[in-house]
Amino acid sequence: MEGMTIPKSLLNEFITLFGDSSKTRIFFAPGRVNLIGEHTDYNGGHVLPCTLSFGTYVITRKRDDDIVKVYSKNFSELGVIQFNLKQLVYEKEDDWANYPKGVIKTFIDSGYKIENGIDMFFYGEIPNGAGLSSSASIELATAVALNNNYNFKIDMITMVKLSQHAENEFIGVNCGIMDQFASGMGKLGKAILLDCNTLEYEYTDIKLDNASIVIANTNKKRGLADSKYNDRREECNRALNQLKDKLNIKSLGDLTEEEFENNKHLILNEIERSRAKHAVYENVRTVKALKALKENDIKEFGRLMNESHISLRDDYEVTGRELDTLVELAWNHEGTIGARMTGAGFGGCTVNIIKNNMISKFIEDVGGRYKDIIGYEPSFYIASIGDGAREISISKEAQEYEV
Ligand code: GLA
Repeated sequence: MEGMTIPKSLLNEFITLFGDSSKTRIFFAPGRVNLIGEHTDYNGGHVLPCTLSFGTYVITRKRDDDIVKVYSKNFSELGVIQFNLKQLVYEKEDDWANYPKGVIKTFIDSGYKIENGIDMFFYGEIPNGAGLSSSASIELATAVALNNNYNFKIDMITMVKLSQHAENEFIGVNCGIMDQFASGMGKLGKAILLDCNTLEYEYTDIKLDNASIVIANTNKKRGLADSKYNDRREECNRALNQLKDKLNIKSLGDLTEEEFENNKHLILNEIERSRAKHAVYENVRTVKALKALKENDIKEFGRLMNESHISLRDDYEVTGRELDTLVELAWNHEGTIGARMTGAGFGGCTVNIIKNNMISKFIEDVGGRYKDIIGYEPSFYIASIGDGAREISISKEAQEYEV
Protein backbone atom coordinates (compact mmCIF):
# COMPACT_ATOMS: atom_id res chain seq x y z
CA MET A 1 0.00 0.00 0.00
CA GLU A 2 1.21 3.52 -0.71
CA GLY A 3 3.01 5.22 2.14
CA MET A 4 3.57 1.89 3.84
CA THR A 5 7.13 1.15 2.83
CA ILE A 6 10.38 2.93 3.41
CA PRO A 7 13.37 2.74 1.15
CA LYS A 8 15.93 0.32 2.55
CA SER A 9 18.57 2.99 2.02
CA LEU A 10 16.97 4.97 4.86
CA LEU A 11 17.49 2.11 7.25
CA ASN A 12 21.10 1.93 6.08
CA GLU A 13 21.52 5.61 6.85
CA PHE A 14 20.11 5.03 10.31
CA ILE A 15 22.72 2.30 10.81
CA THR A 16 25.51 4.63 9.69
CA LEU A 17 24.45 7.26 12.20
CA PHE A 18 23.23 5.18 15.11
CA GLY A 19 25.18 1.91 14.95
CA ASP A 20 22.79 -0.86 13.94
CA SER A 21 19.12 -1.28 13.19
CA SER A 22 18.15 -3.71 15.93
CA LYS A 23 14.94 -2.93 17.82
CA THR A 24 14.07 -0.03 15.53
CA ARG A 25 10.47 0.95 14.95
CA ILE A 26 9.27 3.08 12.06
CA PHE A 27 6.41 5.56 11.97
CA PHE A 28 4.76 7.66 9.31
CA ALA A 29 2.61 10.78 9.47
CA PRO A 30 1.18 12.42 6.36
CA GLY A 31 0.74 15.99 5.17
CA ARG A 32 -2.61 17.40 4.17
CA VAL A 33 -4.24 19.53 1.56
CA ASN A 34 -7.15 21.69 2.64
CA LEU A 35 -9.95 21.67 0.07
CA ILE A 36 -11.84 24.57 1.63
CA GLY A 37 -12.29 26.25 5.02
CA GLU A 38 -9.17 28.42 5.29
CA HIS A 39 -8.33 30.42 8.40
CA THR A 40 -11.55 29.18 9.95
CA ASP A 41 -10.13 26.63 12.40
CA TYR A 42 -8.97 29.12 15.03
CA ASN A 43 -12.18 31.07 14.46
CA GLY A 44 -14.35 28.19 15.64
CA GLY A 45 -15.44 27.30 12.11
CA HIS A 46 -15.38 24.28 9.81
CA VAL A 47 -12.55 22.95 7.65
CA LEU A 48 -12.52 20.33 4.90
CA PRO A 49 -8.99 18.93 4.53
CA CYS A 50 -7.86 15.58 3.21
CA THR A 51 -4.77 13.64 4.12
CA LEU A 52 -2.04 13.11 1.54
CA SER A 53 -0.39 9.78 0.89
CA PHE A 54 3.02 11.38 1.35
CA GLY A 55 4.49 12.71 4.57
CA THR A 56 7.23 12.21 7.13
CA TYR A 57 8.88 8.94 8.15
CA VAL A 58 10.77 8.47 11.38
CA ILE A 59 12.96 5.50 12.31
CA THR A 60 13.29 5.29 16.08
CA ARG A 61 15.00 3.33 18.84
CA LYS A 62 14.82 3.87 22.57
CA ARG A 63 18.09 4.55 24.35
CA ASP A 64 19.39 3.46 27.74
CA ASP A 65 20.35 6.98 28.85
CA ASP A 66 18.37 10.24 29.01
CA ILE A 67 19.61 11.71 25.73
CA VAL A 68 17.52 12.34 22.63
CA LYS A 69 19.32 12.33 19.28
CA VAL A 70 17.46 13.52 16.20
CA TYR A 71 18.54 13.72 12.59
CA SER A 72 16.70 14.76 9.46
CA LYS A 73 17.78 13.66 6.02
CA ASN A 74 16.14 16.88 4.79
CA PHE A 75 18.45 18.99 6.95
CA SER A 76 21.52 16.77 6.76
CA GLU A 77 23.79 19.83 6.91
CA LEU A 78 22.71 20.28 10.54
CA GLY A 79 23.85 16.76 11.43
CA VAL A 80 22.65 14.90 14.51
CA ILE A 81 21.11 17.27 17.04
CA GLN A 82 21.09 16.10 20.60
CA PHE A 83 19.45 17.21 23.81
CA ASN A 84 18.82 15.96 27.31
CA LEU A 85 15.35 15.00 28.52
CA LYS A 86 15.87 17.30 31.49
CA GLN A 87 16.76 20.28 29.27
CA LEU A 88 13.92 20.65 26.81
CA VAL A 89 14.10 24.30 25.84
CA TYR A 90 13.56 26.01 22.49
CA GLU A 91 16.92 26.73 20.86
CA LYS A 92 16.95 28.72 17.64
CA GLU A 93 20.02 26.89 16.35
CA ASP A 94 18.25 23.55 16.77
CA ASP A 95 16.05 24.65 13.88
CA TRP A 96 13.65 21.87 12.74
CA ALA A 97 14.59 19.76 15.80
CA ASN A 98 12.49 22.08 17.94
CA TYR A 99 9.40 20.28 16.56
CA PRO A 100 10.16 16.81 17.97
CA LYS A 101 11.66 18.47 21.06
CA GLY A 102 8.45 20.44 21.62
CA VAL A 103 6.30 17.33 21.29
CA ILE A 104 8.50 15.41 23.75
CA LYS A 105 8.28 18.27 26.24
CA THR A 106 4.52 18.54 25.83
CA PHE A 107 4.12 14.80 26.50
CA ILE A 108 6.25 15.04 29.64
CA ASP A 109 4.48 18.19 30.88
CA SER A 110 1.15 16.42 30.37
CA GLY A 111 2.22 13.64 32.72
CA TYR A 112 3.54 11.00 30.30
CA LYS A 113 6.76 9.72 31.81
CA ILE A 114 9.70 9.62 29.43
CA GLU A 115 12.83 8.61 31.31
CA ASN A 116 14.81 6.95 28.54
CA GLY A 117 15.98 8.93 25.55
CA ILE A 118 15.46 7.96 21.93
CA ASP A 119 17.25 8.07 18.57
CA MET A 120 15.10 9.47 15.76
CA PHE A 121 15.92 9.55 12.06
CA PHE A 122 13.47 11.68 10.07
CA TYR A 123 12.84 11.74 6.37
CA GLY A 124 10.16 14.03 4.95
CA GLU A 125 8.62 13.90 1.48
CA ILE A 126 6.66 17.13 1.86
CA PRO A 127 8.27 20.32 0.59
CA ASN A 128 8.89 22.64 3.58
CA GLY A 129 6.90 25.83 3.87
CA ALA A 130 4.57 24.82 1.04
CA GLY A 131 1.39 24.89 3.09
CA LEU A 132 1.03 21.10 3.04
CA SER A 133 1.70 20.67 6.76
CA SER A 134 5.24 19.38 6.87
CA SER A 135 5.50 20.61 10.49
CA ALA A 136 2.30 18.91 11.63
CA SER A 137 3.55 15.69 10.03
CA ILE A 138 6.81 15.87 12.01
CA GLU A 139 4.79 16.47 15.18
CA LEU A 140 2.40 13.59 14.59
CA ALA A 141 5.21 11.24 13.54
CA THR A 142 6.92 12.11 16.83
CA ALA A 143 3.71 11.69 18.80
CA VAL A 144 2.90 8.19 17.46
CA ALA A 145 6.56 7.22 17.88
CA LEU A 146 6.49 8.25 21.55
CA ASN A 147 3.10 6.65 22.12
CA ASN A 148 4.18 3.25 20.79
CA ASN A 149 7.79 3.20 22.02
CA TYR A 150 6.80 4.14 25.56
CA ASN A 151 3.54 2.23 25.46
CA PHE A 152 1.34 5.13 26.55
CA LYS A 153 -1.85 4.02 24.74
CA ILE A 154 -2.94 7.60 24.05
CA ASP A 155 -5.86 7.99 21.64
CA MET A 156 -5.21 9.82 18.36
CA ILE A 157 -7.30 12.89 19.13
CA THR A 158 -5.33 13.48 22.33
CA MET A 159 -2.09 13.18 20.34
CA VAL A 160 -3.48 15.68 17.84
CA LYS A 161 -4.15 18.13 20.68
CA LEU A 162 -0.73 17.56 22.26
CA SER A 163 0.94 18.22 18.91
CA GLN A 164 -1.03 21.44 18.39
CA HIS A 165 -0.12 22.48 21.93
CA ALA A 166 3.58 21.90 21.16
CA GLU A 167 3.33 24.11 18.08
CA ASN A 168 1.46 26.87 19.96
CA GLU A 169 3.50 26.92 23.14
CA PHE A 170 6.93 25.62 22.19
CA ILE A 171 7.30 26.82 18.60
CA GLY A 172 5.19 29.94 19.15
CA VAL A 173 2.90 29.62 16.14
CA ASN A 174 -0.70 30.10 17.19
CA CYS A 175 -2.04 27.60 14.67
CA GLY A 176 -5.48 26.05 14.86
CA ILE A 177 -6.07 22.31 15.00
CA MET A 178 -6.69 21.49 11.34
CA ASP A 179 -3.22 20.35 10.28
CA GLN A 180 -2.54 18.09 13.23
CA PHE A 181 -6.07 16.69 13.00
CA ALA A 182 -5.73 15.87 9.31
CA SER A 183 -2.30 14.30 9.80
CA GLY A 184 -3.52 12.16 12.69
CA MET A 185 -7.07 11.33 11.68
CA GLY A 186 -6.94 11.05 7.87
CA LYS A 187 -8.66 8.23 6.00
CA LEU A 188 -7.83 6.73 2.64
CA GLY A 189 -9.88 8.36 -0.13
CA LYS A 190 -11.87 10.61 2.22
CA ALA A 191 -12.10 14.29 3.08
CA ILE A 192 -12.71 15.24 6.71
CA LEU A 193 -15.29 17.82 7.68
CA LEU A 194 -14.21 19.06 11.10
CA ASP A 195 -16.14 21.47 13.27
CA CYS A 196 -13.27 23.16 15.09
CA ASN A 197 -15.60 24.48 17.78
CA THR A 198 -16.77 21.06 18.99
CA LEU A 199 -14.20 18.78 17.30
CA GLU A 200 -17.10 16.80 15.84
CA TYR A 201 -16.05 15.39 12.49
CA GLU A 202 -17.25 13.27 9.62
CA TYR A 203 -15.54 11.58 6.71
CA THR A 204 -16.88 11.97 3.22
CA ASP A 205 -15.93 10.29 -0.05
CA ILE A 206 -14.14 12.48 -2.52
CA LYS A 207 -16.15 11.71 -5.64
CA LEU A 208 -15.02 14.10 -8.32
CA ASP A 209 -16.49 12.34 -11.36
CA ASN A 210 -13.82 12.54 -13.98
CA ALA A 211 -11.64 15.04 -12.18
CA SER A 212 -8.71 15.01 -9.74
CA ILE A 213 -7.16 17.14 -7.06
CA VAL A 214 -4.03 18.77 -8.45
CA ILE A 215 -1.76 20.65 -6.07
CA ALA A 216 0.36 23.41 -7.57
CA ASN A 217 3.30 24.77 -5.62
CA THR A 218 4.21 28.42 -6.27
CA ASN A 219 7.68 27.49 -5.00
CA LYS A 220 7.61 30.68 -3.02
CA LYS A 221 8.61 29.71 0.50
CA ARG A 222 6.76 30.94 3.49
CA GLY A 223 7.78 30.76 7.14
CA LEU A 224 4.71 30.51 9.34
CA ALA A 225 6.39 31.91 12.44
CA ASP A 226 7.57 35.08 10.78
CA SER A 227 4.52 35.46 8.60
CA LYS A 228 1.46 37.50 9.39
CA TYR A 229 -0.33 34.40 10.67
CA ASN A 230 -0.38 35.38 14.32
CA ASP A 231 -1.47 38.92 13.34
CA ARG A 232 -4.53 37.55 11.54
CA ARG A 233 -5.50 35.66 14.66
CA GLU A 234 -5.21 38.81 16.72
CA GLU A 235 -7.28 40.83 14.25
CA CYS A 236 -10.04 38.22 14.37
CA ASN A 237 -9.95 38.19 18.17
CA ARG A 238 -10.34 41.93 18.34
CA ALA A 239 -13.29 41.77 15.92
CA LEU A 240 -14.86 38.98 17.98
CA ASN A 241 -14.50 40.91 21.23
CA GLN A 242 -16.37 43.88 19.79
CA LEU A 243 -19.21 41.64 18.59
CA LYS A 244 -19.31 39.82 21.93
CA ASP A 245 -20.25 43.06 23.69
CA LYS A 246 -23.66 42.75 22.09
CA LEU A 247 -24.03 39.19 20.81
CA ASN A 248 -23.96 36.00 22.77
CA ILE A 249 -21.27 34.21 20.73
CA LYS A 250 -18.08 32.33 21.53
CA SER A 251 -16.42 32.52 18.13
CA LEU A 252 -16.91 34.01 14.68
CA GLY A 253 -17.92 30.53 13.55
CA ASP A 254 -21.17 30.96 15.52
CA LEU A 255 -22.45 33.63 13.12
CA THR A 256 -24.55 33.29 9.98
CA GLU A 257 -23.84 35.65 7.11
CA GLU A 258 -27.02 37.57 7.92
CA GLU A 259 -26.14 37.98 11.60
CA PHE A 260 -22.75 39.24 10.57
CA GLU A 261 -24.17 41.78 8.12
CA ASN A 262 -26.62 43.07 10.74
CA ASN A 263 -23.91 43.54 13.35
CA LYS A 264 -20.72 44.28 11.46
CA HIS A 265 -20.98 48.00 12.33
CA LEU A 266 -19.95 46.98 15.87
CA ILE A 267 -16.46 46.27 14.53
CA LEU A 268 -15.02 49.75 14.30
CA ASN A 269 -11.78 49.03 12.46
CA GLU A 270 -12.30 48.39 8.76
CA ILE A 271 -9.48 45.84 8.45
CA GLU A 272 -10.74 43.83 11.43
CA ARG A 273 -14.23 43.92 9.90
CA SER A 274 -12.91 42.43 6.64
CA ARG A 275 -11.02 39.70 8.50
CA ALA A 276 -14.15 38.76 10.42
CA LYS A 277 -16.21 38.80 7.24
CA HIS A 278 -13.89 36.25 5.68
CA ALA A 279 -14.05 34.01 8.76
CA VAL A 280 -17.87 34.03 8.78
CA TYR A 281 -18.43 33.63 5.03
CA GLU A 282 -15.69 31.02 4.63
CA ASN A 283 -17.21 28.93 7.38
CA VAL A 284 -20.63 29.01 5.69
CA ARG A 285 -18.98 28.20 2.35
CA THR A 286 -17.27 25.16 3.82
CA VAL A 287 -20.54 23.68 5.04
CA LYS A 288 -22.08 24.38 1.61
CA ALA A 289 -19.07 22.75 -0.05
CA LEU A 290 -19.56 19.56 1.95
CA LYS A 291 -23.19 19.46 0.82
CA ALA A 292 -22.12 19.96 -2.81
CA LEU A 293 -19.54 17.17 -2.51
CA LYS A 294 -22.12 14.80 -1.05
CA GLU A 295 -24.62 15.67 -3.79
CA ASN A 296 -21.96 15.14 -6.43
CA ASP A 297 -22.28 18.75 -7.51
CA ILE A 298 -18.66 19.31 -8.44
CA LYS A 299 -19.39 22.48 -10.36
CA GLU A 300 -20.81 24.09 -7.24
CA PHE A 301 -17.87 22.78 -5.22
CA GLY A 302 -15.48 24.45 -7.67
CA ARG A 303 -17.44 27.70 -7.57
CA LEU A 304 -17.17 27.77 -3.76
CA MET A 305 -13.41 27.15 -3.99
CA ASN A 306 -13.06 30.13 -6.31
CA GLU A 307 -15.07 32.33 -3.95
CA SER A 308 -12.87 31.18 -1.10
CA HIS A 309 -9.77 32.39 -2.90
CA ILE A 310 -11.30 35.79 -3.66
CA SER A 311 -12.18 36.22 0.00
CA LEU A 312 -8.68 35.18 1.11
CA ARG A 313 -7.22 37.60 -1.40
CA ASP A 314 -9.41 40.64 -0.77
CA ASP A 315 -10.73 40.37 2.78
CA TYR A 316 -8.14 38.25 4.56
CA GLU A 317 -5.16 39.39 2.47
CA VAL A 318 -3.07 36.25 2.76
CA THR A 319 -2.41 35.51 -0.91
CA GLY A 320 0.23 37.57 -2.74
CA ARG A 321 1.41 37.78 -6.32
CA GLU A 322 2.56 34.17 -6.80
CA LEU A 323 -0.57 32.55 -5.37
CA ASP A 324 -2.90 34.95 -7.18
CA THR A 325 -1.10 34.41 -10.48
CA LEU A 326 -1.24 30.63 -10.18
CA VAL A 327 -4.93 30.68 -9.23
CA GLU A 328 -5.93 33.17 -11.93
CA LEU A 329 -4.12 31.12 -14.58
CA ALA A 330 -6.02 28.07 -13.35
CA TRP A 331 -9.36 29.90 -13.41
CA ASN A 332 -8.74 30.81 -17.05
CA HIS A 333 -7.90 27.25 -18.05
CA GLU A 334 -10.50 25.04 -19.73
CA GLY A 335 -9.56 22.05 -17.57
CA THR A 336 -10.30 23.77 -14.25
CA ILE A 337 -13.42 23.20 -12.16
CA GLY A 338 -12.18 25.16 -9.14
CA ALA A 339 -8.93 26.65 -7.82
CA ARG A 340 -7.78 28.40 -4.66
CA MET A 341 -4.80 28.84 -2.37
CA THR A 342 -4.49 26.23 0.38
CA GLY A 343 -2.94 26.39 3.85
CA ALA A 344 -1.83 29.53 5.66
CA GLY A 345 -1.06 31.46 2.46
CA PHE A 346 1.64 34.08 1.75
CA GLY A 347 3.22 31.53 -0.62
CA GLY A 348 3.03 27.76 -0.75
CA CYS A 349 0.45 25.85 -2.74
CA THR A 350 -2.84 26.11 -4.57
CA VAL A 351 -5.41 23.32 -4.76
CA ASN A 352 -7.19 22.73 -8.05
CA ILE A 353 -9.93 20.42 -9.26
CA ILE A 354 -8.96 19.51 -12.81
CA LYS A 355 -10.72 17.37 -15.42
CA ASN A 356 -8.73 14.16 -15.79
CA ASN A 357 -8.35 14.40 -19.56
CA MET A 358 -6.91 17.91 -19.21
CA ILE A 359 -4.34 17.40 -16.45
CA SER A 360 -1.26 17.28 -18.66
CA LYS A 361 -2.42 20.24 -20.68
CA PHE A 362 -3.18 22.13 -17.46
CA ILE A 363 0.31 21.48 -16.11
CA GLU A 364 1.93 22.49 -19.36
CA ASP A 365 -0.14 25.63 -19.97
CA VAL A 366 -0.36 26.95 -16.41
CA GLY A 367 3.23 25.97 -15.59
CA GLY A 368 4.54 27.70 -18.70
CA ARG A 369 2.55 30.90 -18.22
CA TYR A 370 3.48 31.07 -14.52
CA LYS A 371 7.15 30.83 -15.42
CA ASP A 372 6.77 33.63 -18.00
CA ILE A 373 5.16 35.90 -15.42
CA ILE A 374 6.97 35.01 -12.18
CA GLY A 375 10.33 33.96 -13.54
CA TYR A 376 10.58 30.44 -12.12
CA GLU A 377 8.60 27.23 -12.44
CA PRO A 378 5.84 25.96 -10.20
CA SER A 379 5.65 22.24 -9.26
CA PHE A 380 2.58 20.04 -9.61
CA TYR A 381 1.45 16.97 -7.67
CA ILE A 382 -1.64 14.89 -8.32
CA ALA A 383 -2.96 14.31 -4.83
CA SER A 384 -3.68 10.83 -3.64
CA ILE A 385 -5.50 10.65 -0.34
CA GLY A 386 -4.15 8.33 2.34
CA ASP A 387 -4.54 7.28 5.97
CA GLY A 388 -3.42 9.18 9.07
CA ALA A 389 -0.34 8.75 11.29
CA ARG A 390 0.66 5.17 12.11
CA GLU A 391 3.44 2.67 12.78
CA ILE A 392 4.86 0.85 9.80
CA SER A 393 5.99 -2.71 10.21
CA ILE A 394 9.60 -2.76 9.11
CA SER A 395 10.39 -6.43 9.19
CA LYS A 396 8.57 -7.23 5.98
CA GLU A 397 8.11 -3.94 4.19
CA ALA A 398 11.57 -2.41 4.53
CA GLN A 399 13.16 -5.59 3.26
CA GLU A 400 11.13 -5.81 0.13
CA TYR A 401 11.86 -2.23 -0.90
CA GLU A 402 15.13 -1.79 -2.72
CA VAL A 403 16.24 1.54 -4.12
C1 GLA B 1 -2.04 26.81 8.90
C2 GLA B 1 -2.44 26.47 10.33
C3 GLA B 1 -3.85 25.89 10.39
C4 GLA B 1 -4.85 26.79 9.65
C5 GLA B 1 -4.32 27.16 8.27
C6 GLA B 1 -5.20 28.17 7.58
O1 GLA B 1 -1.94 25.66 8.13
O2 GLA B 1 -1.53 25.54 10.89
O3 GLA B 1 -4.23 25.70 11.73
O4 GLA B 1 -5.15 27.93 10.40
O5 GLA B 1 -3.01 27.69 8.33
O6 GLA B 1 -6.45 27.64 7.31
